[in-house]
Amino acid sequence: MRLLRALLRGAAPGSIPQQVDFYSRFSPSPLSMKQFLDFGSENACEKTSFMFLRQELPVRLANIMKEISLLPDNLLRTPSVQLVQSWYVQSLQEILDFKDKSSEDSGAIHSFTDTVIKIRNRHNDVIPTMAQGVIEYKESFGIDPVTSQNVQYFLDRFYMSRISIRMLLNQHSLLFGGKSNPAHPKHIGSIDPSCNVVEVIRDGYESAKRLCDLYYMSSPEFILEELNAKSPGQPMQVVYVPSHLYHMVFELFKNAMRATMEHNADRCIYPPIHVHVTLGNEDLTVKMSDRGGGVPMRKIDRLFNYMYSTAPRPRVETSRATPLALSTESIERLPVYNKAAWKHYKANHEADDWCVPSSEPKDMTTFRSI
Ligand SMILES: Nc1ncnc2c1ncn2[C@@H]1O[C@H](COP(=O)(O)OP(=O)(O)OP(=O)(O)O)[C@@H](O)[C@H]1O
Ligand SMILES: [Mg+2]
Repeated sequence: MRLLRALLRGAAPGSIPQQVDFYSRFSPSPLSMKQFLDFGSENACEKTSFMFLRQELPVRLANIMKEISLLPDNLLRTPSVQLVQSWYVQSLQEILDFKDKSSEDSGAIHSFTDTVIKIRNRHNDVIPTMAQGVIEYKESFGIDPVTSQNVQYFLDRFYMSRISIRMLLNQHSLLFGGKSNPAHPKHIGSIDPSCNVVEVIRDGYESAKRLCDLYYMSSPEFILEELNAKSPGQPMQVVYVPSHLYHMVFELFKNAMRATMEHNADRCIYPPIHVHVTLGNEDLTVKMSDRGGGVPMRKIDRLFNYMYSTAPRPRVETSRATPLALSTESIERLPVYNKAAWKHYKANHEADDWCVPSSEPKDMTTFRSI
């Protein structure tokens, strides 16, 4: 009897926690660039995409929702993280509403596309809201190494999961949302099958330069060297999402420009930013270097630490040399919720096995001679 009462008090069948448990047992299915292209090719149909997404989206959402629920209680309870969590719950619910619809029901398929667009818009502000949650937590409770490590591990996976979910939502809404893209008729959703890498990098430079000119009244030039080792003499073209490449190089240019302007402010001579773009058989590498003074080794780790920075973002955007997997064979890299992930949140981390100086050295005299 007691057991029955406990069951009745528990989650109702089909409730969101039960659905999260159920769908998180599936592993996400990473798509290759070729599959993304095939989805958008002539024989692509809304029905196929509908049937794939109504299974895959709950799997990807539930996998990461499990990890959200394992965050430290005090972080989970911040209003911002609660808000993000409520968006995930609502979106999962809205997709599950299509679970029992017939794949022949064209009305349901159209309304699914509307739902996909609604979900995409609902999640627009996830990154600043999550960042706000981390800031709220940090202000109230400070940072300890274990939490910092957990949050770092979580945010890397959370942002990667978000990019992958948005890619699915975006492709479906761009392909079937009824609006064609007259400026880029050859694009397949957000993918450009022949993305001109150098052109995108130049766009990123120009946008950063405009900001730099506004702020500092001047800006460094940039020198671009390109090497197409894959098809020598040909323009560098890859299958890629141009907006992703643009965002990455734009952030790097802003950093390089700011460092260059501030480091050379006294001389008023601003050395150019060098960009080397190399296309190999499998990868494209964009390497940017500037004469803005660099970052001391001691501080390098901090650049990638979300709890240290005031403006968290996925690691992929802050990397200096940006290797991008670009062939049509490249496949999404997705986090999966499993025992290994669970252990990361639950394990008691041992003390650091590297010496960390307790304060920053001011100059060499702070070192004791032995
Ligand atoms: N090219 C660079 N040269 C010197 N320092 C750099 C360079 N790139 C980044 N940094 C240092 O790393 C810090 C973090 O960079 P990041 O782009 O993550 O944040 P931000 O530039 O401070 O803020 P945001 O990019 O959000 O406007 C910078 O504040 C700067 O101190
Ligand atoms: Mg920056």
